[in-house]
Amino acid sequence: MVAMGSLEASLQVFSGAAPFIKYDSTYSFGSFLKYKKKTGTNVMRFFKCSSIYNQVPTIPTVRFGNLKRFESLDCKCQNAESVSGFTTENENGTWFVDNDSKFNTIQETGRSPNLLGSKDVQTFKKESESSVSDIIEEEAWDLLRESIVHYCGSPIGTIAANDPTSSSVLNYDQVFIRDFIPSGIAFLLKEEYDIVRNFILHTLQLQSWEKTMDCHSPGQGLMPASFKVRTVPLEGDDTATEEVLDPDFGEAAIGRVAPVDSGLWWIILLRAYGKSSGDMSLVERIDVQTGIKMILKLCLADGFDMFPTLLVADGPCMIDRRMGIHGHPLEIQALFYSALMCAREMLAPEDGSADLIRALNNRLVALSFHIREYYWVDLKKLNEIYRYKTEEYSYDAVNKFNIYPDQIPPWLVEWMPNKGGYLIGNLQPAHMDFRFFSLGNFWSVVSSLVTVDQSNAILDLIEAKWADLVADMPFKICYPALEGQEWQIITGSDPKNTPWSYHNGGSWPTLLWQLTVACIKMDRPEIAAKAVKIAEERLAQDKWPEYYDTKRGRFIGKQSRLYQTWTIAGYLVSKLLLANPNKAKILMSDEDSDLVNAFSCMITSNPRKKRGPKNSQKTYIV
Ligand code: GLC
Repeated sequence: MVAMGSLEASLQVFSGAAPFIKYDSTYSFGSFLKYKKKTGTNVMRFFKCSSIYNQVPTIPTVRFGNLKRFESLDCKCQNAESVSGFTTENENGTWFVDNDSKFNTIQETGRSPNLLGSKDVQTFKKESESSVSDIIEEEAWDLLRESIVHYCGSPIGTIAANDPTSSSVLNYDQVFIRDFIPSGIAFLLKEEYDIVRNFILHTLQLQSWEKTMDCHSPGQGLMPASFKVRTVPLEGDDTATEEVLDPDFGEAAIGRVAPVDSGLWWIILLRAYGKSSGDMSLVERIDVQTGIKMILKLCLADGFDMFPTLLVADGPCMIDRRMGIHGHPLEIQALFYSALMCAREMLAPEDGSADLIRALNNRLVALSFHIREYYWVDLKKLNEIYRYKTEEYSYDAVNKFNIYPDQIPPWLVEWMPNKGGYLIGNLQPAHMDFRFFSLGNFWSVVSSLVTVDQSNAILDLIEAKWADLVADMPFKICYPALEGQEWQIITGSDPKNTPWSYHNGGSWPTLLWQLTVACIKMDRPEIAAKAVKIAEERLAQDKWPEYYDTKRGRFIGKQSRLYQTWTIAGYLVSKLLLANPNKAKILMSDEDSDLVNAFSCMITSNPRKKRGPKNSQKTYIV
């Protein structure tokens, strides 16, 4: 056990190397993709398409931190097969297209009413319920496969929405990184690994793309929000075409929002791929290791911030419009923590990465301490805030962030249940955003960012506030909605984010899968099962909408897409995991005992002792 006298000292526990799954240091045999950038355009040309699939050994020429991680060109991918259409797998495991099977809805497959004869009512009800559920699941699989996007003849992702009724496509015809996560998990659970592997490798190539917005370039570790496969005329040959990948890092997105969550999700999916397929060779590849490090470097870079949480602009994640979540939003912190935990397992302990691993470990401890201590609210904590003294200038201030008690919103005084609690949405100097954000709370449970007691309390609150958070469609993206002047000021009078719609308190069925993983982790799957049942009654009939509106989630969202892929995939992942809860482990992280020790040292340390030069601190190893 380790006992230390201060925060600084407690962080010294983690100067050693991180645990690692399995690592073969013979990097020179890792396969390597080469590309050439077409200057003056925003498209990337992939050459040697086959190398990504065939693992051809080449000698890597990685210059870490340098743009040109991959050079040279070799072959061209011409006239690859169509990206849409119903796809399925033949005996040989190759994909083919069957456009006739498009949009085979549940109505067409004949959802029959309850026609009872002499059969026992209960048994029949159960049987017919499960057969209806099977039909819905089958339809969901058909639609998911139909959404697959191909590149150079291989599946590499799923389109965001496949809505034939929508007049404006916007960017819903693209593969979004965050939207692909439930699709990828669904394929992993079905033991269909290729599409996930291809997705991971192709998006990795996009990471090193030179991106600019009005002459400014964001950090090199940034992953795109989305990408599109375009068919373009082949240079120098008018009669032929080729496929290119065209990424969007936010430079074309509405509001020019930076997709901070993309890289974090990418790391989480990579670990899930390794854990479920058992194929560690992907994680061990030098380009993949470099990709992980680039994301980490970007996230762990020093800045002006006083907090261990990641400082971001508004709309950096699933909520990708102005919603007043800039600063230190919970969703980003939960994904950040989860990605750090996953990367810690996967990083190769090689020369040169010791500093990065040390920084990663230190950040994990500081981040979990900060979130558990300062983001947590329950009735007791609320009462403490209510009685806070303000303007405390000192190192041992109780009200460290100078929160004025009048900030406690009237709705919360009524809403907070006697049993249960949650993590608030954001914490800034003199500002607590008390809204409940679902994804951030779910993923804090999944990643062990919060304690076991806090995790259970979050689920208690969900049960207690079911009528507000679930009602007629799981799950509210946040609660409550911003209304009136608050809506005007915080969203900038955004007509898409009116109260109880879209990001402003809308209900998003895709959130089912994250809820399911959280419930399984806490051994309370019945909560998720109840939510899935509610969703199942409407999703297929409503044509798998992106989101629902109104306080109870009764209407299909005003501008909601139909056949939204992550609605379909989220439902499937929930069903698959509830049927086989053990498999949820590929997404969870358990609390590490080293972290727990360091964490408890921080709690017991006297903040006054934190001053002074670092080397005056002592480390006690017992
Ligand atoms: C919307 C959502 C975003 C999602 C995208 C594609 O912009 O806000 O989270 O990734 O649609 O579905």
